[in-house]
Amino acid sequence: MRLLVTGAAGFIGSHFVRLALERAPGAHVVVLDALRYSGHLSTMQDFWEQVRFYPGVVQDPTLVGHVIEVEKVTHVVNFAAESHNDRSLQDNGAFVHTNTFGVQVLLDQARRHGVEKVVQVSTDEVYGSIAEGDFTEDSPLRPNTPYAASKAGGDLLARAHHVAFRTPVVVTRGGNTYGPFQYPEKLIPFFLTRLLDGKKVPLYGDGGQVREWIHARDHAAGVWAALERGAPGEAYNVGDANERTNAEVVRVLLEETERDESFVKRIPDPRAGAHDQRYSMDCAKARRDLGWAPEVPFETALRETARWYRENEWWWRPLVEDDAYRQFVHSFYGPTLAEDL
Ligand code: TYD
Repeated sequence: MRLLVTGAAGFIGSHFVRLALERAPGAHVVVLDALRYSGHLSTMQDFWEQVRFYPGVVQDPTLVGHVIEVEKVTHVVNFAAESHNDRSLQDNGAFVHTNTFGVQVLLDQARRHGVEKVVQVSTDEVYGSIAEGDFTEDSPLRPNTPYAASKAGGDLLARAHHVAFRTPVVVTRGGNTYGPFQYPEKLIPFFLTRLLDGKKVPLYGDGGQVREWIHARDHAAGVWAALERGAPGEAYNVGDANERTNAEVVRVLLEETERDESFVKRIPDPRAGAHDQRYSMDCAKARRDLGWAPEVPFETALRETARWYRENEWWWRPLVEDDAYRQFVHSFYGPTLAEDL
């Protein structure tokens, strides 16, 4: 297998490369990554020697075509994405460029160069929010944020390319993912890095929103199973049954960082009407057809993740001290709040 992994300098993509190198030791692995704000060479440090790296964006057809051709790529897995909902509420152009247009470019180039299989890595957020029960792969796509809409655009292009051109593309839809190497803007790493630094953390609204959490390694294993066994044209939900309110997750983070409730600042919800109340997926299809099942126990792995952040400050410290990061926190949470936080 000659595998192109896009976005592997990011969180889930890097976990996927580690897993791929374990599962297919002889595989030729090529990484294409734009090294945007959330992608870092330090994330790939442990496997850097084992991959070929190209810097660049998935929206560049010349570059993508060139990489597929010269590296004789047979399989493509697309993790390249703008992924933070809060940023998509500030400025959503980049989301459509990468998450929708980028998928179109990848699919076109994969078809042109006869790639054997493409996996488009997507998210449960394309379905929108569900009050009760679970989303199946046949649930309608009702995205509520520009981020989710841009990912849904990628899913629909994957479907259409399969129907129109028989492109062998499979879509995976992952749940909220946690683990080492997650850029400190999402709930868990944002809160952990702040709490370790003795700073307050901003819990949106009443903290009652429910997310279904899956460890990055299990998520990566689901994508791997889809690459090996997924049927072209199909989508697979890749989630774990760990439904928790944000407040419940935060309680564990406080315990692990030895902070008390006074570190939690409840703020008016900055997502307002676009804040999905609950995500939950039925993953029977992936279990049945891909032979995949999540293995990492949530509660212990969440605590291990907290310990990883405590022990791996070398990785996250430069990220949170970066000017652009500070500017984002400042502009999103407001100057007074940023100081107060
Ligand atoms: P997040 O990690 O951004 O993932 P997603 O938007 O994909 O679910 O947010 C998870 C939940 O945590 C979501 O309900 C919003 C909430 N949240 C906070 O309360 N405070 C924060 O600072 C962040 C980033 C998220």
